[in-house]
Amino acid sequence: MDINLDNYLEQTATELPAALEWVEQQTHLKTNHARMLAGPVLGRMLITFSKMIKPQKVLEIGTFTGYSAICLAQGLAKGGTLDALEKDHRWLDLIAEGFSRAGLSNVISLHIGDATETLEQFSNNSFDLVYIDANKREYCKYYELVLPLVKPGGFIIADNVLWSGKILLDPLPKDAQTQEIARFNKMVKEDRRTENFILPLRDGLNIIQKL
Ligand SMILES: C[S@@+](CC[C@H](N)C(=O)[O-])C[C@H]1O[C@@H](n2cnc3c(N)ncnc32)[C@H](O)[C@@H]1O
Repeated sequence: MDINLDNYLEQTATELPAALEWVEQQTHLKTNHARMLAGPVLGRMLITFSKMIKPQKVLEIGTFTGYSAICLAQGLAKGGTLDALEKDHRWLDLIAEGFSRAGLSNVISLHIGDATETLEQFSNNSFDLVYIDANKREYCKYYELVLPLVKPGGFIIADNVLWSGKILLDPLPKDAQTQEIARFNKMVKEDRRTENFILPLRDGLNIIQKL
């Protein structure tokens, strides 16, 4: 995305919870992967979506250091909960401290392990909102696993579905991520169980509603 547009969107939006700035700083200090963070613009969008949906139960696949989970939890209905799935245990302390600073320790349950295995623990039709942001080579698998877990009328939001614009190239690049994301977007479009639209915010969000 145009850097000036990004700055403008950030400057003209409501300020984010202070805990997010702390998570962002610590992620830069303690990991080499800060580019994976949702960041302020996408973060504000996720807060807005969550506040629009007012979910009772949220599921996140791919938590990293907790930035997007804190955003998604902002719109939870009273008594609502969020299950955060992350396979990398290295960020555990950072995630826990961030959730605590955001006042969300009792609201978010972190599940460390491969999401495809963790998902087996969850029962049918319970989530109002699912955010997919883990391994781009597994998006179709996540989708098939989570769709039965979403309530009718509930939403799945999948990040990075424009993959830095690579998805628009002709011929399509042969790398595994681009191929899988293209397969995912086609599969969602053709799925009669859902309706969807790709929002071209940052790296692209596929907004999918279960019918
Ligand atoms: C792009 S980052 C997530 C960023 C986070 N949602 C945010 O906005 O701050 C992707 C994360 O997914 C995790 N991941 C990748 N494959 C996974 C899997 N199969 N199960 C659980 N987590 C996975 C990675 O370890 C990484 O932390």
